Amino acid sequence: MSLLNTNQFEGKTALVTGGAGGIGWATACALASAGTNVAICNRLGTTLDAAEGRIEAAGYKNITCFEADVSSQADMKKLFAALTKQYGRLNYLVNNAGIDSFCDLQDFSIREFRRVLDINVSSVFIALSEGLSLLRDAANAAVVNVGSVHGHVTTSGRADYVTSKTALIGATRALALDLAEFGIRINMVSPGAIETPMLTRGWQKKAPNTELAELKRRAGRQHPCGRIGDPRDVAQAIRFLLSEEASFITGADLLVDGGMHAKLAISSIWEE
Ligand code: NAI
Repeated sequence: MSLLNTNQFEGKTALVTGGAGGIGWATACALASAGTNVAICNRLGTTLDAAEGRIEAAGYKNITCFEADVSSQADMKKLFAALTKQYGRLNYLVNNAGIDSFCDLQDFSIREFRRVLDINVSSVFIALSEGLSLLRDAANAAVVNVGSVHGHVTTSGRADYVTSKTALIGATRALALDLAEFGIRINMVSPGAIETPMLTRGWQKKAPNTELAELKRRAGRQHPCGRIGDPRDVAQAIRFLLSEEASFITGADLLVDGGMHAKLAISSIWEE
């Protein structure tokens, strides 16, 4: 194995869930620019529509958009049938689709709690079970789950989201053992604050009267690197974990958080 095989992504195939925006879109671009044929899936809606336009505007001939809700086994079954027809195998799976959530025990909704776990955790099991034969047919396939720094350290009011992202750490570790017999590696990344539609939506909800630029400055201060992350920061880490250079890494969780987890205390960005 050469230390850096620059052509290794050429002609390979990938599925990036939730790939129409944010970290998923950056990951799709990182793989497509390296020559991989990338399928992105998203729920039906404006984000998916916008992705079609973005693919055309960026001139990518090797990114294809599919409609699928990752928490629906029926949708994912259909999606993998379409991928089987289109590609015949799958080298890379990035379980990126996820939703943010703020949980208030005084106004608890079990329905909402289950929705968060379904989209953030059950989806990984659905994708792996429905996609297993496609992944198995590709030599040395690799999977990356997208967790969060909230799986490690957190703030109050995030218990449902935190539960989902912490569960992914255990799932990634355990699934690494189960998938090893098929020659499939599985790892995860745990990002800090990354500038995506999800982050800004959450900020607007939590602090509607504070300028986004100010919140970005405060959040940047919480990261020892001095800034919040760009989706490409996470995409590059994901691409590394999918690569041949990571061939001896499985069951691992890579923090992509600008050092946030290393801090002993994290002050809230809602405070001055
Ligand atoms: P985003 O909201 O910008 O993008 C997520 C994409 O997933 C969207 O296109 C959305 O439509 C799609 N999606 C949501 N539910 C879906 C479903 N049921 N089926 C199919 N597609 C669905 O979010 P972002 O920030 O790019 O998040 C990506 C992942 O990164 C998530 O798992 C999130 O929890 C994680 N993350 C994000 C951080 C951030 O600061 N932005 C920090 C840590 C983790």
